[in-house]
Amino acid sequence: MWEIERENPASATWSHEHYESLFRTSAAEPPPRYLVLVAEDPTDSENEQVNAPASPIVGYLAAQCVDSDWELHYVVVAKKSRKSGIATLLLNELIHQARAKNGNAIFLEVRQSNQAARALYRKFGFVETGVRKGYYPTPPEDAILYRLTFH
Ligand SMILES: CC(C)(COP(=O)(O)OP(=O)(O)OC[C@H]1O[C@@H](n2cnc3c(N)ncnc32)[C@H](O)[C@@H]1OP(=O)(O)O)[C@@H](O)C(=O)NCCC(=O)NCCS
Repeated sequence: MWEIERENPASATWSHEHYESLFRTSAAEPPPRYLVLVAEDPTDSENEQVNAPASPIVGYLAAQCVDSDWELHYVVVAKKSRKSGIATLLLNELIHQARAKNGNAIFLEVRQSNQAARALYRKFGFVETGVRKGYYPTPPEDAILYRLTFH
């Protein structure tokens, strides 16, 4: 997942530790209501590294639920696997799970210049709800806010 994120310097804002923490469970703390979806490509056998997963990861999505509201943190697809419906599969699954858990809405923000992601969200019926001026650093850019409401 981390390697895929490094392909996108403008969206690379999460640390290696963040990714490790997604899969760590602690008996002391209740698990956060975090959903991580991973898409693998079982037909890709190029990865011959020792300890590498048999089916390489080609995309992933992470979202967090607070009360009945979901926040989509990121959806990322490996460059070589884009435009083949992987983000669509991941978002469909998020929406399915959010609805199944009686979710109210999904919120997200995205860089203004990210036309591919904005087209993806529009296709799913997300509506623009506002702008956060200068929200993103390096390079500085406004964030466009989106919401998909279920009820
Ligand atoms: C945005 C992103 C996740 C799309 O993933 P994908 O698997 O290629 O998307 P899909 O194949 O499921 O495409 C679904 C829809 O998204 C839109 N879309 C995807 N790529 C697009 C592009 N390059 N230009 C315009 N629209 C695009 C289209 O509406 C498309 O529907 P269509 O195929 O009917 O035209 C991918 O480009 C990516 O990983 N970008 C870098 C990370 C990022 O910016 N993530 C979002 C912010 S966290």
